Amino acid sequence: MKVTIVGAGNVGATCAQRIAEAGIADVCLIDIAEGLAAGKALDLAQAAPLVGHSRQVTGGQDYALAEGSAVVVVTAGLPRKPGMSRDDLLATNGKIVADIASALAKVIPDAIYIMVTNPLDVTTYIAHQVSGVPRERMMGMAGGLDTARFCTFIAQELNCSPADVQAVVLGGHGDSMVPLPRYATVGGVAVTELISPDRLEEIIERTRNGGAEIVSHLKTGGAYYAPAAAVAQMVGAIVRDEKRILPASVLLQGEYGLNDVFVGVPVKLGAGGVEEIIELDLTEEELSALHESAEHVRSTIARWNQIQDP
Ligand code: NAI
Ligand code: 2OP
Repeated sequence: MKVTIVGAGNVGATCAQRIAEAGIADVCLIDIAEGLAAGKALDLAQAAPLVGHSRQVTGGQDYALAEGSAVVVVTAGLPRKPGMSRDDLLATNGKIVADIASALAKVIPDAIYIMVTNPLDVTTYIAHQVSGVPRERMMGMAGGLDTARFCTFIAQELNCSPADVQAVVLGGHGDSMVPLPRYATVGGVAVTELISPDRLEEIIERTRNGGAEIVSHLKTGGAYYAPAAAVAQMVGAIVRDEKRILPASVLLQGEYGLNDVFVGVPVKLGAGGVEEIIELDLTEEELSALHESAEHVRSTIARWNQIQDP
């Protein structure tokens, strides 16, 4: 099984490392920058005897290298700088993703796509439009990262293992995301019984701001270790046909009362890609927050369409 990763920067190269070193699949790295993907692929391949895995890692600039890939992960594009929102990346990254989706559609029309480039829900929409890939095979990674952040902050608050925390974050990947405390549990106990409402609100706010907090520390780019772990989890679920229930940005067609918009919801991931969209029983307040988040994604899609056809 082969997975292609377009963009061999921080997120892409770390995805390659996690996927190869976990033995999930062979990895092909592609980047526009001369020598970057080839060099990083060679370096990662030379770690195999030390780490003890048998996966091949190759790389280069040519999209033909992607041939035969079951899954493609797109991480190419600019990351944020301090003070920027993800939406500020729209014009530059939208064009990059459109070019890449068009090139990939010719080489691997049957692959399953996992988009990562920001603004995430909109780049997933753009890739879907350009490639014509059906919604089952087109998804964005963000909810896994947002959920992991929510779980981490809950675990830190309770001084317990993050592995014992489960949670759900819905919505677009941005300030309007919708962490759901009602669905968060620690060792099976509702988090609302363990953490006060005020403190939970602070944790939710920190989760919403999780990406910007890291950008403010790094100054020259964004997060990549946790994002790559979230991508590897999705790739593993697909390649191993695990039928895992994970969050993904997918095209809703009636689910949650939403239509024709990519937004983060829980899905079942397996060999067929998005095999099912899970509809949670939301309160009126939760549903309205999800609709507000979807509205924000819609307005950014409208801005993209305006850029395309002024
Ligand atoms: P980076 O700057 O380290 O890497 C980006 C890479 O894309 C560079 O190596 C660049 O040469 C390459 N690239 C640019 N245009 C290209 C093209 N046309 N074809 C092929 N490669 C091209 O950036 P980083 O940190 O890896 O982030 C990448 C993207 O992922 C950013 O847009 C960032 O905001 C996004 N991101 C999204 C997350 C999510 O949860 N969805 C999480 C983390 C990052
Ligand atoms: C994050 O949330 C950059 O969107 C990315 O860290």
